[in-house]
Amino acid sequence: MTIWNYKNFTIHQFQELESTNSHAFEMANSRQIFDHEIILANSQNKGRGRQDRKWSSPNGNLYFSIVLQPQTNIKNIPQISFIAIVALQIAISKIVQNCVQAKWPNDLLIDEKKVAGILLESKFTQKECDFVILGIGLNINSHPQNTIFPADNLQDYGVNISPKNALEKFLDEFENLYLNWKNFGFSSIRNLWLKNAYKLGKETSIKLDDKIITGTLETLDEEGNLILKHNSESLKINAADILSS
Ligand code: BTN
Repeated sequence: MTIWNYKNFTIHQFQELESTNSHAFEMANSRQIFDHEIILANSQNKGRGRQDRKWSSPNGNLYFSIVLQPQTNIKNIPQISFIAIVALQIAISKIVQNCVQAKWPNDLLIDEKKVAGILLESKFTQKECDFVILGIGLNINSHPQNTIFPADNLQDYGVNISPKNALEKFLDEFENLYLNWKNFGFSSIRNLWLKNAYKLGKETSIKLDDKIITGTLETLDEEGNLILKHNSESLKINAADILSS
């Protein structure tokens, strides 16, 4: 394991872990790491995605988890994944010519293919948020096949970047946006997210539990819910998958 610093962040880098999110959670829970510390792994053997899916994690891609301890109301915590996706989108747009979009709730797409995902986990005691683990996986030189939503990696778009350099480029953007959010709230993050959101204003299908619902993606509300117009009714969705067309 090696430890290095970048800006306000301390990075604990491992050759292989089961999951950087699981490791960060255990370390934060046992008060061994704190706010702005990062667990980074070159590979994971039990990488996890949303909804208990597996996150394929061979060497060459970026896998990391940031511990955050924001002093904020619990209801604002889900906003952190939107800060991260916007930071990633800005960072990746600077190195890729293609269309980089955010897909609700927290995926990053290049030309409508998924290249990154976010897994936000947190620990609460009563009404307080003890810590948040912001886990990010970015496909740099490989991606899984046969996924529900088509996937890709940065190298296929002509980008040659190391995982370490990609992490630093993300942190450059995240640091500013996170500070802005802590000081001024969600509205500018929400506006940035809405500027480049996949299928916004378009008709699309979403998978909600076992149902498929078709409607128009209207907007993102102040709490990070997706508003879908279905049969002239605006539905508030807080967990679902947008399907590819
Ligand atoms: C998703 O799109 O379903 C979220 C994927 C999140 C993957 C990252 S990789 C680093 C961190 N550790 C994990 O086990 N998962 C997250």
